Amino acid sequence: MKVRQPTFDFSSIRPHWAPVREFAQSYNAFSTVPAHIEPFLVKVMMRVKDALGEKHPKLRADIEIFNKQEVQHCKQHVAFNKMLYKSGYAGMQALEKPYKDDYQRFLETRSLRFNVAYCEGFEAMGSSAGQVFFEELDEYLAGSDQEAVDLWKWHLAEEFEHREVCFQAYEALYGKGLFAWLYRIWVFAYAVKHIGSHTARVGAYMNDVDRENMSEVDRAASIERQKVLRAKISKASKKRLVKVLSPFYNPGKMVPSPGMAELLSRFS
Ligand SMILES: [Fe+2]
Ligand SMILES: [Fe+2]
Repeated sequence: MKVRQPTFDFSSIRPHWAPVREFAQSYNAFSTVPAHIEPFLVKVMMRVKDALGEKHPKLRADIEIFNKQEVQHCKQHVAFNKMLYKSGYAGMQALEKPYKDDYQRFLETRSLRFNVAYCEGFEAMGSSAGQVFFEELDEYLAGSDQEAVDLWKWHLAEEFEHREVCFQAYEALYGKGLFAWLYRIWVFAYAVKHIGSHTARVGAYMNDVDRENMSEVDRAASIERQKVLRAKISKASKKRLVKVLSPFYNPGKMVPSPGMAELLSRFS
């Protein structure tokens, strides 16, 4: 694990950076997540470090790198999202506000156990999303804007790289017993629903903006393309995420996708 500081230039990138514009809009909606969740992750993991005290020096060192990686991810996605706001999708920001506020509320009112389990739930989604992006989406990525593809590949490869940190933090603080497992699963399901409903709202807005000036025929074709890609991503994600539910789940045992190491070496 290491901190990388890539320099992306989003000045010439288009919101429809992939040949299938509904695919680009799905990931544009996902791009609002790191802008708000990653500052939350960093704050929660700083609390974890305090709670660990002098124990677990390796984990505390990993948390340092984890946090620095998340700060870089957030910074790049915020820059990317500004391009979206300026390109006719300023209405996204109103949809992001309540989602952003949720994280402030979690920090103020929820237990550290809940917040660590939520972070682990997101990290489990992130490492699976990395495998999906690297292994299942070539048909959508062919012909795409390289800068947008690299943003996602760099981010998701680092998500995969640091996939164990929150899991280990949760185990270090709350153990491996039956209650710890059931609680982790409950909060994982909560995180999937919370994040999924937010990205669905933003994605629907993006597509609605695009469809405003479409003919009936084009609109029907757009809806059909969205259905197909959603089914593909959902199937590829579910088959990976089901493993998170197991009491024997261990993200450390996940195998990196071909291309992840090479991609990360480019940014090192
Ligand atoms: Fe991240
Ligand atoms: Fe992460």
